[in-house]
Amino acid sequence: MTSRRNVLKSLGLATLALPAWATAADATPALPPANDPQYWKKIRDQFMLAKDSIFFNPGTVGVMPKVVVDKMTDYTKYLATHVADWAYKDDNKEEFISGYNNLMRLRTKVGKLINANAGEIAMTDNVTHGISYLANGITLQPGDEVLTTNQEHPGGRGGWLVKEKRYGVLFKEVAIGKPIKNAEEVYHDIINAFTPKTKVLIISHMISGSGAILPVKDICAEASRRGIFTILDGAQTVGHIKIDVKDIGCDAYAGCFHKWVGAPHGTGFMYVKQDKMKDIWTTVASARWDNHEDEGFRFTQRGTGNFPILKGLEAALDFLFEIGPDRVYERIKFLGQRLRTGLKQNPKVKIFSPADEAMCAGITVYNIAGMTGAQLQDEFWNRARMRPRASGEVFGVRHCTHIFNSEEEIDKALAIVTELSRR
Ligand SMILES: Cc1ncc(COP(=O)(O)O)c(C=O)c1O
Repeated sequence: MTSRRNVLKSLGLATLALPAWATAADATPALPPANDPQYWKKIRDQFMLAKDSIFFNPGTVGVMPKVVVDKMTDYTKYLATHVADWAYKDDNKEEFISGYNNLMRLRTKVGKLINANAGEIAMTDNVTHGISYLANGITLQPGDEVLTTNQEHPGGRGGWLVKEKRYGVLFKEVAIGKPIKNAEEVYHDIINAFTPKTKVLIISHMISGSGAILPVKDICAEASRRGIFTILDGAQTVGHIKIDVKDIGCDAYAGCFHKWVGAPHGTGFMYVKQDKMKDIWTTVASARWDNHEDEGFRFTQRGTGNFPILKGLEAALDFLFEIGPDRVYERIKFLGQRLRTGLKQNPKVKIFSPADEAMCAGITVYNIAGMTGAQLQDEFWNRARMRPRASGEVFGVRHCTHIFNSEEEIDKALAIVTELSRR
């Protein structure tokens, strides 16, 4: 007899390719062909973003394309309606709750995005989880040093501060430029701070407060030569710039999808090199806490979670792959560069992102002389309902560009900066 589950599978419902209740009116328009002159306008139509405001802050939380919202809500409705169909067996095949499943299909897609094997990928809820798993899971002795920069996010720091207080490890910060002048400067700042006691390096791949892409390949090479375990915080890079963990040569990488990938909030991953993962203790522990057959699964198994958001995450990754990650990265940078080029013409503007375009992509941090970040943020909103994010008293705003933005929006923002700097 054909089981209910098989019937659902044959309908595509096990993966919810097209739920039975989706109506034609709800359907997201198909992606335009790449050579369509209206291509990016049509990509904009894939998002539900209100037309009467302009969003410039995916560095905090991104924007889900409609297909992601649909996948997530359809699956939520499906669970609420058909939970009785779940013939629970301990066979690790069911997909009704996350946290017990090995999530192999998803981990494989994440691996494809950053050039890693699925076994090296663990699903997490965000970057803070990934870095906390690493800080808590790495064995260090009192007096061992962990090096970081003075421009890291609290989510990249907290786990190490706990470790410092609890185990007598030294968490040391090295000051780097803002703006960073060039790759050599920041490379030397960091490697000159290594000591024979440095055991771990934890730095952002891209600094969130300036958008600077650090020369992580060279830094990791030097750190590895000295036997230092290297961790990159990729909160700002995933879906934003190309990541190839094998080429970079880092030991671990923590990322999230709820910023630049446009996935549901609360989705992230931790990558650890195959031969290094076995040495990291599990923090959130369940049945597989000491099972090393599939290291990524050991960390992925984190109790009952929210499966609909993982359905949304998969749709967001598929959306990115369908457009083509390189095309997305190129477009984000094109718009970011257009903004920086305009800002550089204005003598009243100070830019805190690197002057070297090779170190920049879609994040630009700048201020207008005499303004605070909060004032500048408010002016953008009051004048044009534009939403970059204030970056403190001195640093003005962090202004991010993404594929749902347009050249016209950048030019409009530049016109506002010109008006404000004339006051
Ligand atoms: C560099 C950096 N690290 C870590 C985080 C924290 O990320 P999450 O909220 O995914 O834990 C952020 C968030 O903005 C960030 O910019």
